[in-house]
Amino acid sequence: NSGDSMISEYELPMDSDWEIPRDMLHLGKNLGEGAFGKVVKAEAMNLLKPGSMSIVAVKMLKEGHTDNEMMDLVSEMEMMKMIGKHINIINLLGCCTQGGPLYVVVEYAPHGNLRDFLRQHRPSSGYELAVGEKKEKKTLTQKDLVSFAYQVARGMEYLASRRCIHRDLAARNVLTLALQEISTVTIIIEKTTDGRLPVKWMAPEALFHRVYTTQSDVWSYGILLWEIMTLGVRTPNFLGTPYPSVPSVEKLFQLLRNGHRMEKPPCCSLEIYMLMRECWSYQPNERPLVEDLDRILTITANEEY
Ligand code: ADE
Repeated sequence: NSGDSMISEYELPMDSDWEIPRDMLHLGKNLGEGAFGKVVKAEAMNLLKPGSMSIVAVKMLKEGHTDNEMMDLVSEMEMMKMIGKHINIINLLGCCTQGGPLYVVVEYAPHGNLRDFLRQHRPSSGYELAVGEKKEKKTLTQKDLVSFAYQVARGMEYLASRRCIHRDLAARNVLTLALQEISTVTIIIEKTTDGRLPVKWMAPEALFHRVYTTQSDVWSYGILLWEIMTLGVRTPNFLGTPYPSVPSVEKLFQLLRNGHRMEKPPCCSLEIYMLMRECWSYQPNERPLVEDLDRILTITANEEY
């Protein structure tokens, strides 16, 4: 029933390594919401630096959630505690588990998800300039795009080293942190149980047999790489959604079984395209290892365009 008296119906164990006082947080606007959970922006006093206020993101459940959804958020929190910190991962900062609803406090990514970020920062067309669009925004170079891809690979490498399988790597699930010269992109670890089927990102064995491994994450990484190389460049009338001409899951099954793969995006180098194609090897063990991605992208990232 009503939210204002919502004292948690669940008793969660107190973990003094992570527990933070609720009154340290001032909740603000919604950053995003799913079927059962939401993320709000918040101000946190004394959390990152003593005596100063910082901006964080707080994950919580919405009213009417089920026990399973509660368990998912708890396991997401426990997973983040175990994974540990990495620059290319959205890190856990703390949690509020006592005397009220569960809050999972994580780093705030001021530039939102990579999909929207790339679309907003792609070089604009002559038409857009003609109608007087703000011109001051920074547009992205090929080097920036490769740097994003590299940072995602670094985040994946770390997850793989911690034996963590992401299962839903896509540009919409990558957040952009600092944007000074080059953005820091970070992966969000999130359990998606809202029934959404990100089929166009899924490896065949995940799609057909629900087998998820680090190597199925590598397939998804290939799709994410494709998104980076299409969303961030100027391609008129092109939305950057994978397999734009494939209308149904059945059709996708058929195409993948028959060995069909996406073509090279217009502004993508051959090296990067070869990397995508390797990520999309039908056999999981023929896909590059996460460390290979890292190495190949480092070599490419240092080339000038
Ligand atoms: N949306 C979902 N999680 C977020 C975060 N950590 N920072 C900014 N926006 C978000």
